[in-house]
Formats: sequence, C-alpha cells, structure tokens
Amino acid sequence: MKGQDITVLVTGGAGFIGSNFVLYLLKNYPQFHVINLDKLTYAGNLDNLKSIENHPNYTFIKGDICDEKLVGEIVAGGVDYLINFAAESHVDRSITDPGIFVRTNVLGTQVLLEAAKKYGVKKYIQISTDEVYGSLDKEGYFTETSPLAPNSPYSASKASADLFVRAYYKTFGLNVNITRCSNNYGPYQFPEKLIPLMISNALEGKELPVYGDGLYVRDWLYVEDHCRAIDAVMQRGKPGEIYNIGGGNEKTNLEIVRLILQELNKPESLIRFVKDRPGHDRRYAIDSSKIQRELNWRPYYDFTDGLKLTIRWYLEHVDWWYKIKSGEYQEYYQKMYQDR
Ligand code: NAD
Ligand code: TYD
Repeated sequence: MKGQDITVLVTGGAGFIGSNFVLYLLKNYPQFHVINLDKLTYAGNLDNLKSIENHPNYTFIKGDICDEKLVGEIVAGGVDYLINFAAESHVDRSITDPGIFVRTNVLGTQVLLEAAKKYGVKKYIQISTDEVYGSLDKEGYFTETSPLAPNSPYSASKASADLFVRAYYKTFGLNVNITRCSNNYGPYQFPEKLIPLMISNALEGKELPVYGDGLYVRDWLYVEDHCRAIDAVMQRGKPGEIYNIGGGNEKTNLEIVRLILQELNKPESLIRFVKDRPGHDRRYAIDSSKIQRELNWRPYYDFTDGLKLTIRWYLEHVDWWYKIKSGEYQEYYQKMYQDR
C-alpha cells in the first residue's frame, strides 16, 4: 500500500456494480491503491476482476463487513475513501429471507461507519438506492427530499443504513455522502436481475417470467454512468449531502423484455406472465438534477445503445453466466419460479 497517493477501500467489489467500479478506478486513477473487501456470497464473483487480479495497486481481501476486527485492521492501515457497495441486493431474496438483509445492510454499514470514524477516513460514501423512497404512481419523481417510504425488506434495510450514515455525519461529523441510484444494467450483472435473466433465458430458449401485468416501471442507468457519478461524488460531493442518480430512461418491464427478444431474434411466445411479487413497487423515477447541476455529472449512454452493448456482452461471455446458471443458482431458480 505504501508509495500510493490515495487508498480507496471498496466493499462488495466482487459484485456487479462494485467490480465495474474497481475496474473503472484502476483504469482512470493509476495513482490510487484499491482494496476490495468482499465476503464472496453467491453474488460475489472474482471472475469479474480477472483482468486486474495481479495489478500492483490492487488488493483483494475476502471478508465480511460485519467483522469489526477485520474491518478495523484494514481501515487502521490507512484508508482515504471508503465506498460501501457491499449488500444483499435482491428484492425477491429479501422476501424469502429478510434477516440477512438486516445483518449485512444495516449492521455491516454501522461497522464500517464506526471504523471510518475511529481511524479518520476522509470520506465515506454509502451506495444506496432509489428504492428507499418507495413507489410512485404515473406522475412525479423522487428528489433527495422525498420521504423515505421503503416497501420491501431490501429497501427497508437500505433506508435504515442511510439513517445511520446520516447520524454519523450529524453526531460525529464524519464526512459522508449517500448516493441513491436507479436500476443499473450492464456487464457482470448477476442473472437473477431482470435484464441479464431475460437475456440469458432467451439465449437458452427458456421462458421469460414477467411478474404481474409487466407494466411496472424502472428508470434504467448503464453501470458505467453510475461509476462516473460515484467518481464525481468522491471528488466533489459536499459533506453530508445525498445525491440521486438516474438515467432518465423509464421503461416498463414488458418493453424491455420485448426489446431483448427483438434484438436476439427470438419469438414473443417465450414470454410467460407469472404470479406477481408481493409489495411490488409500481414505478421508480429519479430526479437527478442536483448531481447534474452541482457536480456536473450526466449520463452518456442512451438506453437503446446501452441495452445493445449489454446484450452483446452477454453473447460474448456465455461462459461467465453459464457457470453461474448451471451451479447452485439452479436450486434458487427452481424455488423461486417453479410454482409461480
Ligand atoms: P451485488 O449483489 O451484485 O453485489 C454485492 C456484493 O457484496 C457481492 O460481491 C457480495 O459478495 C458482497 N457482499 C454481500 N454481503 C457482504 C458482506 N457481509 N461483507 C462483504 N461483502 C458482502 O449487488 P450490486 O447490484 O452490485 O449492488 C451494489 C450496491 O449498489 C448495493 O449496495 C445495492 O443496494 C446498490 N444499488 C444497486 C442497484 C442495482 O440496480 N443493482 C441500484 C442502486 C443501488
Ligand atoms: P429487479 O431486476 O429484481 O430489480 P428491482 O426489483 O430492484 O427493481 O426487477 C426489475 C423489475 O423486473 C421489477 O419490476 C421486477 C421485474 N421482474 C420480472 O418481471 N421478472 C423477473 O424474473 C425478475 C427477476 C424481475
């Protein structure tokens, strides 16, 4: 770690967004030393980081963010920025097993905050989600001052974590930021989430399970745009501030599924409407004017281009997702979808 100007501790860096962010940092900031602390749950995958595993400015540590001793040792070694991506992140899993969401997402966050306070981390960034604001009807957007109204155990755990981050700023003066981003898509997303699940199922000739009427709306952002937004917050975010991040790409799930089928030349008869998710949020839409105005960030990728790039990535990396889908994930898929 010595000899480097700035040390960034990324937690959850073997997951979807975290690994994209680690790759982004090492590409754009050769002077940074990046430490990746990840427990390697089912969602953590070191294959995502193969290209940089021997990079001289990169250290991987397998461990749990709830492990006070380990986190304390790492942060005591000198960390300038701590960026917390580590989380249980899938709404459907939070419905079947909420406990682990409280442990990792809430308790884990508090352990990180405590270490950041104790050892004088310069900035702590909490990667949160727009889901903490709950659900919108047809009109309106979430702003940073919208009330917290989480509806799933996942979003409730993320909202709780955000409140601890706020408290460490107000009570202890820890320099924090919270980012609340809309749905991400792009390379390395685990195939339990909508877009990679639908692409990979279509490629395998399997049914595409659409929940309820398929008219639920999400605001999609290409993952690289998210990484650039977090970078802007790292560099220029004002202490204690929350920043919403969104792509301004509202789409229904059905529109997305149809676009994927079209792009892959597959028939719409693969679509299967299945039982809805309980407590399913109807619409998310983000007002990201604050980060655009104050930190000069804006998304580069238009949704059609981003989706094409993503489909191409999954076509060129069949081994990556096939390994996941043919392993223990099969059991999950059976459990979640067989009686739906
Ligand atoms: P992911 O599930 O792909 O990755 C999570 C990572 O955290 C995995 O590598 C996993 O091994 C690790 N992890 C889990 N528990 C851990 C623990 N106790 N200790 C250490 N590591 C642990 O998630 P993602 O989609 O990359 O999301 C990353 C963050 O961004 C999450 O905090 C999520 O709430 C937030 N977010 C995600 C989206 C999205 O669309 N995916 C949108 C907005 C915000
Ligand atoms: P998901 O990718 O799980 O993200 P989130 O629930 O955090 O927004 O789901 C995105 C949308 O797609 C959501 O409205 C649920 C829907 N969905 C389906 O219709 N079928 C599926 O198999 C999955 C995984 C999601």
